[in-house]
Amino acid sequence: MRNRNVVSLLMLVLGMLCVLMLAHAQNAPEASEKGKEVYENSCAHCHGVEGRGDGSAAENLLPKPRDFTRGLYKIRSTESGQLPTDQDLFDIITEGMPGSSMPPWDTALSADDRWEVVAYIKTFYDGFKESETPPRAISLEDKIPYAEESVEIGKGLYVDLGCVECHGNVGRGDGTSAPTLTDEWGFQTWPANLAQGWNYRGGADTEDIFKRFIGGIAGSPMPAFEGDSFLHFGLTAEESKRLSELENKDEMTEAEEEESGKFYEKMDAAVDIALNRAEGMELSAAEQQTYDNAMKVVYEKSWHLANYVKSLTPEKRPESAIGNNVLRSQYVQGALPPMDDAAWETLQSGYFPVVGQVVIEPRQFNPTIDSVNVKSFYNDTEVAFLFTWDDRTQTIGDETDETTGKTLEDALAIQFPVKVPQGPTAPKPYFLWGGRLPVYLWHWKASAPEQVTELTAKGINNAEAQEAQGELQTQSIYKDGQYKLWVKRALKTDDKKDLQLEPGVFVPIAFSAWDGANGDVDTKRVMSSWYAFVLEPVPSSKRFIYPPLIAILSVGFLFGLRAFVQRRNSEEV
Ligand code: HEC
Ligand code: HEC
Repeated sequence: MRNRNVVSLLMLVLGMLCVLMLAHAQNAPEASEKGKEVYENSCAHCHGVEGRGDGSAAENLLPKPRDFTRGLYKIRSTESGQLPTDQDLFDIITEGMPGSSMPPWDTALSADDRWEVVAYIKTFYDGFKESETPPRAISLEDKIPYAEESVEIGKGLYVDLGCVECHGNVGRGDGTSAPTLTDEWGFQTWPANLAQGWNYRGGADTEDIFKRFIGGIAGSPMPAFEGDSFLHFGLTAEESKRLSELENKDEMTEAEEEESGKFYEKMDAAVDIALNRAEGMELSAAEQQTYDNAMKVVYEKSWHLANYVKSLTPEKRPESAIGNNVLRSQYVQGALPPMDDAAWETLQSGYFPVVGQVVIEPRQFNPTIDSVNVKSFYNDTEVAFLFTWDDRTQTIGDETDETTGKTLEDALAIQFPVKVPQGPTAPKPYFLWGGRLPVYLWHWKASAPEQVTELTAKGINNAEAQEAQGELQTQSIYKDGQYKLWVKRALKTDDKKDLQLEPGVFVPIAFSAWDGANGDVDTKRVMSSWYAFVLEPVPSSKRFIYPPLIAILSVGFLFGLRAFVQRRNSEEV
């Protein structure tokens, strides 16, 4: 009896919570002059005065600013083929779309202005007015919590559902179809790098990822996972497993043929119902039941998949390699580890974000490389670096740029000053490959992967290979959408144009990278500004500092002792 009361109380509280949560999803006001004004001031130069995505700034951008006249929205809480809710639009305007040029408006516009502009952009597409029923929301009710087991199931589905073809074996966006994809508007588009959740357009929470599967990313080639685009739609998990077994057989017996035939019939029926539903047809109670059963499986699998995708990316974008995170080369005694040595795994990477070079023509407005990650060891005579960066495509110099006729290939350049500035406020060379103060560069190209050229540069278009080469040892590899480059050099060289290294001294370092498949060539590239690294003097410093220190202390102690003895002696006298 008492239990019943507790249960009904709980139900009541839950019910109230639901009402509160529904109330949270707000609707936009009627479109007004105010919304038009906000739009024309803040949005039109990208999205166009008439909302066609053709503003004056749009030309250089990829992805293109959204064309609002088509009613296609990528980031929705609603099912595939549905319009977004007002709240969806408000949220995306507030948060922006990472990895694209769509900025967040949380500080530049008040919440009221954001609601007004939501109402205004809806006027560009009649579908918003015409739809009488609210868009169908994706239910997040039966969420499967994150757990190892779920991640494992998701990993299998990642292969079975064909994610690999676009997103690649480990998710770096390097699948075999990746270079061939275009969006609804005919522009090239790249699959997301699932190891870099901070660049997802619609957020990297498990719920966000789940919604992208069920609802799809409208306008992009990424399919919504429902109906005929979902493997074995209409079968239960067990039936699906059985059918896969049968399909993998070289030859089926007659009984097996019949068994699989039944599965196909069941699937066809479910897909038909899903198509009818998508077209807005009324479903009978039995059809609705069939559909619900089929979707239950889709939802379940999508939660596992979302948990797997979640496991591929760090929770947050790593902190850049400055301040406390500055790259510290670790001292080792004896030989430095080669590229594949497990010793590298014991080190944390320094994370060096890069951005498109937009100062000098030709510029890169749509970079595909996010960052360069670096680890380093040194010993008494040498230093070794391991540079890692994600690039969806391996371009080794057998393609040319259509407009310039130049050879396209992947490449990396590591930049140092020739002379280390004395102290943090001393001037550094200009970060775009030096100027009055020259820079010293290591230049690696995918067409000669076992070689790094030393350059001296006094400006981005003023670089020369050094006469004395061959001081650098190099290894490199490209695998699963990622380059690894290992470089080793002596701490000190005889060449005046080289950087000389010493433990404990902070050395400026910067990077340039080229993704050939993204048209990167010459100044069209991604770059970082100056960061710093240091040959970490601990624990090896004990060797350098302690012996002399102990000597000084000992001398001091002896002097002190002698003075003390002398004083005592004189007092006694
Ligand atoms: C610097 C250019 C730029 C400006 C300014 C800009 N946007 Fe965008 N916006 C974009 C781009 C690019 C996209 C498409 C990104 C993508 O498809 O991944 C986009 C996408 C959108 C979307 C689509 C979201 C979705 O789910 O598909 C909305 C809504 C939007 N912008 C609203 C606005 C509003 C409102 C403003 C002004 C307050 C604004 N934008 C200003 C560049 C811009
Ligand atoms: C036909 C190629 C293709 C397939 C298959 C595909 N994707 Fe994608 N995926 C894309 C593209 C392209 C984008 C980038 C969409 C955009 O931002 O316009 C993307 C984006 C994503 C995103 C990022 C969403 C965001 O908010 O930016 C995730 C996560 C994702 N895909 C996961 C998956 C998973 C898991 C599968 C398999 C169930 C899958 N994709 C199948 C092409 C594909």
